Amino acid sequence: MAKKETAGAADYGLGPYKYPRGWFVIAEANELDDGPIAKTFFDKDFALYRGKSGRVVLLDAYCKHMGTHLAASKTAYIAQTEDLIEGDSIRCPYHAWRYNEKGDVDHIPYHDATKCPKSASIESYHVREVMGMIMMWHHPEGGEPELEPPYLPMWDDERAIHWQLDHLGTLPIHGIEITDNMADAQHLGPTHGSPVEYFENEIKDGVVIQRQGGVLAVYKSKLDSVTWYSTPGVLCSKQTWAGMTMVELICNTPVSDGVSQCWHGVLSLSDHNPATHADMAKAKALQEGALTAFAADFDVWSNKTPATKVMRLKKDGRFDMVRKWVSQWYMSAEDAEAVRAEVNGFHPIPDFPRPDPAKKTSGYEDDCFLTRGADGTVRSVYTGEEVK
Ligand code: FES
Ligand SMILES: [Fe+2]
Repeated sequence: MAKKETAGAADYGLGPYKYPRGWFVIAEANELDDGPIAKTFFDKDFALYRGKSGRVVLLDAYCKHMGTHLAASKTAYIAQTEDLIEGDSIRCPYHAWRYNEKGDVDHIPYHDATKCPKSASIESYHVREVMGMIMMWHHPEGGEPELEPPYLPMWDDERAIHWQLDHLGTLPIHGIEITDNMADAQHLGPTHGSPVEYFENEIKDGVVIQRQGGVLAVYKSKLDSVTWYSTPGVLCSKQTWAGMTMVELICNTPVSDGVSQCWHGVLSLSDHNPATHADMAKAKALQEGALTAFAADFDVWSNKTPATKVMRLKKDGRFDMVRKWVSQWYMSAEDAEAVRAEVNGFHPIPDFPRPDPAKKTSGYEDDCFLTRGADGTVRSVYTGEEVK
């Protein structure tokens, strides 16, 4: 059988939308340091830039005047003189029509400013700067964010060593095969060298959780982890081994239907404050080690043929439930309610050890499943409650 190039949302039977609702990484924040950049996700071209106020703006890419990409020209005179950005607006490099952060044209150098055509407006999207990343709220019907972006309190710890993201490029695979890892208990031994000793999935509305543990062969150490997605493009995994705790981040964003762009990072705490060179080197090695483990998944995904259906055995994890959880993002928020009602709850593997229930109540998960709003309010996706 020849490898099928890729499969799209419809092939997996996900839902009416081709692309999911949710928060998705579209850039690392430092990519904006050198001016506007062109991005393509969800089969759409975007112009992304940081306004003079510091605000990040995401607009549809193409100027309504004559179709110029607002952010792709590096050689136009006003791009070279760095005159593209004015306040939080961007000028088109062709004839300098100025688009504000809402996507409306509010100034044309050779035209009465009070008569800028309303029909020249383009779409502006919800974006947030989140832990060194730029995330957009994607909604196929333009709906408002239903929850805030993910947040890790460790990021704001004074001993935090922040990730510099690994930019992993694109994979010819639909995001659902990446989220499959949440249920995939039986790949942990063969692919990652840490055979699973206990395992469980839990689903609670907007969050899918995996709790698992086993001995990590390369480090000869017991590994325990709690991993979650709070929308289908951003995974955080709190991992404890050898007496140390870190959080791994894996993000996937659809570029087109069946092609995913991926990023990876590790957040950890230094042993000293301020961090020494040795602490920085240790944090970098942690990220590299985690990337080596993740690269094994990446390698499988790069070469596999799509699994639009899983031939699931009894002791496989609950791919069915995790895929169903993913499907809720491919429909309206109203329709997603029925899916949530169906998948909410615990999904252990039959006759297989489950995590110690104390893990849930011991406080270990207090810094998991959180979101933070633009006003700083932290909430639990799990309970919906505000967390002080
Ligand atoms: S094409 Fe944008 S101003 Fe003319
Ligand atoms: Fe994996």
